[in-house]
Amino acid sequence: MQLSAPTASAIRRQTEKSASRSFYLYDLAPMRAKIVQLKAIMPEGVEIFYAMKANPHPAFLAAAKNSGVAGIEIASLGEAKKAVAAGFQPKELIFTGPGKSPEELEWGLQKGLRTIHIESLTEAYRLNALCQKLGVSQDILLRVNPDFDIHGAQASFSGGSQKLGVDVTKLHEFLPHILGLNNLRFRGLHVYAASGVLRVEDLLKNCQLVFDMTRGIEKKFQGIRCDIIDFGGGFGIDYLESGQNFSPDGYAAGLKKLIAEYELEKRRFVLELGRYLAADSGWYCTEILDIKDSHGIKQIVCAGGTNHFRRPAALSINHPVAIVPMNRPRIFAGQESVLKERVYIGGPLCNTADKLARDIYIENAEIGDMAVFCLAGAYGLTMSHMEFLSHDRPPEIILEPA
Ligand SMILES: Cc1ncc(COP(=O)(O)O)c(C=O)c1O
Repeated sequence: MQLSAPTASAIRRQTEKSASRSFYLYDLAPMRAKIVQLKAIMPEGVEIFYAMKANPHPAFLAAAKNSGVAGIEIASLGEAKKAVAAGFQPKELIFTGPGKSPEELEWGLQKGLRTIHIESLTEAYRLNALCQKLGVSQDILLRVNPDFDIHGAQASFSGGSQKLGVDVTKLHEFLPHILGLNNLRFRGLHVYAASGVLRVEDLLKNCQLVFDMTRGIEKKFQGIRCDIIDFGGGFGIDYLESGQNFSPDGYAAGLKKLIAEYELEKRRFVLELGRYLAADSGWYCTEILDIKDSHGIKQIVCAGGTNHFRRPAALSINHPVAIVPMNRPRIFAGQESVLKERVYIGGPLCNTADKLARDIYIENAEIGDMAVFCLAGAYGLTMSHMEFLSHDRPPEIILEPA
């Protein structure tokens, strides 16, 4: 991938002045621009939340806040505390995820979170009992595990046996229990089926199926109304450089049409976006310490590996890679370099899973250059196993606006 000239020179400058051979570089301008754009084009009633699991760094939370997100999707007490430290009010937090502990739920009830998204019948009963103990009530959404799959998703969270949400086939059995819990106020549904979807039509199909489900439930259970419909995240990023980019305009127009078709204009719709907002605001940069030929294939060995950037290995995909030349003196006359060939890139960890890129074409690379992994702003450091081999944590550098 070709880096922009300012990004390449920021990486070179940072490399020259830093004692660290690996770092994340963040530029929050793309994230801010995306939030502003989404807010401008989405139909009435749609609220944009930042799913901070994508990147919990304070600069990402500040970018979300300054650009006017409706709030933050949290999945733990730790995330909640970071969001509050970044200036979000508890009323701006929505709490999702399986396995919320009693302590986490109690904290949420005491602070007054906007909605807590129930993932099982046990969780509903547990939350209701805590409400009774504290003498409060709480708005909830019910997360449903639908019986459909989203075509073209990079990762699927629905269909079949899942720990996420309540099976759609059990709704008729579970809903009366949940509606009978006096301290819980049922406000609607949460259906997050898939992540990393590039084709707008696929994600809109999900919205349509969720609207069908909403209408079905409202018909079957007299007096029930889904005021809030949460579609989770799922807007994709073109990691494979296929040229197919997610079209927010297409999505906004399609959603508007569906809302009108189903006559759901008076409802609120939640988007909890992580990857789409954060991915292109970050680069993982690491120094090439060695290049060797093994069985005719070049292996590039960097200062950092999956301990800093685990996503490519975890999902078996390559991120776009760029090389920033550093023109370092040669270590010995016969040292290897890479010229127009397919290579493997790994880190310093003593296992074969430590791969940052597999079988990827590199134009030119020398020992001492910086290998730069693009679209690393989402699920980068936060998803990595930093303790393994006790290497240093890479600094996270924020690029200041020019
Ligand atoms: C409940 C929930 N909401 C939102 C997200 C963010 O999804 P994405 O990064 O695809 O936008 C996730 C990601 O796993 C999630 O689990």
